[in-house]
Amino acid sequence: MHLHLFGAIAWIGGSVFMFVLGVSLTNKQHQKEVYPHVGPIFGYFELVSLAVLVSTGVLLTLENGLFELLFTSDDSEVMQYLRTKLYIVISVIFATAVHFVIALKTNNKLRTKIQNLVSRASSLFILFANIFILHYAIMIRSIL
Ligand code: HEM
Repeated sequence: MHLHLFGAIAWIGGSVFMFVLGVSLTNKQHQKEVYPHVGPIFGYFELVSLAVLVSTGVLLTLENGLFELLFTSDDSEVMQYLRTKLYIVISVIFATAVHFVIALKTNNKLRTKIQNLVSRASSLFILFANIFILHYAIMIRSIL
């Protein structure tokens, strides 16, 4: 649980910080100086925290006897919250993969309009989805 919480702090804190950086660093020259250095470090930091979250999350579901219930038709409140949380986590993993592929392909290069749009949309989606994940995590915890 401690590791899961630490992972959540790192993952969500990182995405909020990058959002603030994205909004405040509007000067193109400054962006060119900062992103090529910060981007890869941030990317790998976020990947590690996501891996920690998923692995400790699986352990927590096992520990609470919820893992087996995921594959049954159990429709209790806690399972509804857990399933909803997991659907959002899966979509966040997908959005992270999309964002990561564009970042890897275009670091130090000029992006096309569509790459820019998809990259921004995916990071905005991750930011908002995290708020919902946090909400469902709190609801699950309040039942267990
Ligand atoms: C982006 C990914 C995730 C985030 C940000 C996240 C966040 C959190 C947080 C903050 C809590 C603690 C809530 C509280 O104390 O009120 C929590 C609890 C929990 N999480 Fe996650 N989580 C994530 C992924 C997962 C995954 C993938 C699983 C399962 C496979 C999972 C299973 C659980 C369970 C079962 C608890 C409750 C544990 C308990 O009360 O003993 N989480 N999560």
